[in-house]
Amino acid sequence: MSQLSPELYARLRDHGQEHLLFGWDRLSIEAQVGFEAELAKIDFAALKRLHASRDTAPAALPPRELIAPIPVRPRTVPAAVHAAGEESLRRGEVAVLLVAGGQGSRLGFDKPKGMFPVAPVTNASLFRIHCEKVLALSRRYACSVPLLVMTSLATHAETEAYFHAQGFFGLPREDVYFFQQGTMPAVDIATGRILLEAPGQLFLSPNGHGGTLTALAETGMLDELESRGIRHVFYFQVDNPLVKVCDPAFLGTHVTVGSAASSKVVYKEDPSEKVGVLAVIAGRCTIIEYSDMPAEMAEEREADGRLRFRAGNPAIHLFDVGFLRRVTSTGGLTYHIARKKVAYFDPDTERVISPTSENALKFELFIFDALPLADRWVVVETSRAEEFAPLKNATGADSPDSARQALMRLHADWLESAGISVPRGTDGNPEHPVEISPLFALDAKECRSKVSPQLLITGPTYLE
Ligand code: UTP
Repeated sequence: MSQLSPELYARLRDHGQEHLLFGWDRLSIEAQVGFEAELAKIDFAALKRLHASRDTAPAALPPRELIAPIPVRPRTVPAAVHAAGEESLRRGEVAVLLVAGGQGSRLGFDKPKGMFPVAPVTNASLFRIHCEKVLALSRRYACSVPLLVMTSLATHAETEAYFHAQGFFGLPREDVYFFQQGTMPAVDIATGRILLEAPGQLFLSPNGHGGTLTALAETGMLDELESRGIRHVFYFQVDNPLVKVCDPAFLGTHVTVGSAASSKVVYKEDPSEKVGVLAVIAGRCTIIEYSDMPAEMAEEREADGRLRFRAGNPAIHLFDVGFLRRVTSTGGLTYHIARKKVAYFDPDTERVISPTSENALKFELFIFDALPLADRWVVVETSRAEEFAPLKNATGADSPDSARQALMRLHADWLESAGISVPRGTDGNPEHPVEISPLFALDAKECRSKVSPQLLITGPTYLE
């Protein structure tokens, strides 16, 4: 049996967390050593503070007159700006960061969400679609585009094995990096006791997409980016199959403005839509979460009838590497607290308890909390139809069906812009599934330059 260090025991006792040692004597030596290392990493005092703040409302918004709508640049940019983005890609200054550490609980898919077969004809997975975009970019601009895949404890092993099994989707092996985000224990709402999954096993969750920043620094990824001469990191989330990876117009805007953190936005049309909105507070680009936005503010309209605070956040960003370095070396982000219903092992009754109501606090960092830390920033418009169809739920809105339809409609638009006739139903959806591989075309212009004018759509159609 391994002896627990007296110092760790004292820390557990002082923070009222001795229950974590339940069943210690029955663990194997390896399990004891591993568990002790896990416990030693926990900042018990920080967890205690988070638990104590559970009923404190999040910092209130400043008075309305100090909040302004965010200035948004149009998505069509001058040729010189587009060219600046392309030049940056050609010089190999850009890396792609795909965050894929989430647990995808709403979708209810038993594998990492990136493995979800979303493409309407080939059933290609989200990972395949994203990787083929990166490969197509590197071919188009004759450059290498490092791909950083952020995983978590929950998704790491399966994700890495999948990339290996799929031959890295044709990407050079040395350009694909996996790095894991951190985890956070969950605590009991009433007592603040850290929850166990089983004896000798903490109940851990990924620490949120904001965990990307600390993980970049702690895993050495930032050093690697700097040593490769990378200056800009294109950030996006695995669940959006429509994202235009490293769109040169967006990149060109980011580069010419000298922005530290740039964001795309999709316009919100319905005040009740549950999407965070970018706004200017104290001169900084700041997100207002939908739950924090007062109803009357959400409903304010411009003279032309559009919502005043309409800059919805699809989580597509460009970060300057120097900015990432600065943010990760100065304190980092603040945890958000969520109340969840989680099954846990209860040492008092020696049983797994499946509660019927919320019993646990989970702690997550959000990437958008980094935006106000940027001194220079820029925001660019995009459209949902072209760039945002997230896969969140099993059915209904933001589901596999809606994402597939969005992909088909977009590709049908590209084909129609090339003069191809695409039969559509009254709902606007193509009558036959259509799909365009990123390796065939990354955008409508490329599609027009490649597609045969004789193409007839009479059944499922895949262009590769
Ligand atoms: P969501 O917040 O939508 O979470 O993540 P999710 O895990 O996909 O789904 P639910 O809420 O459990 O149903 C948005 C993006 O952020 C990533 C996800 O992988 C997704 O790309 N993410 C989220 C992380 O990488 N790590 C996290 O800890 C949380």
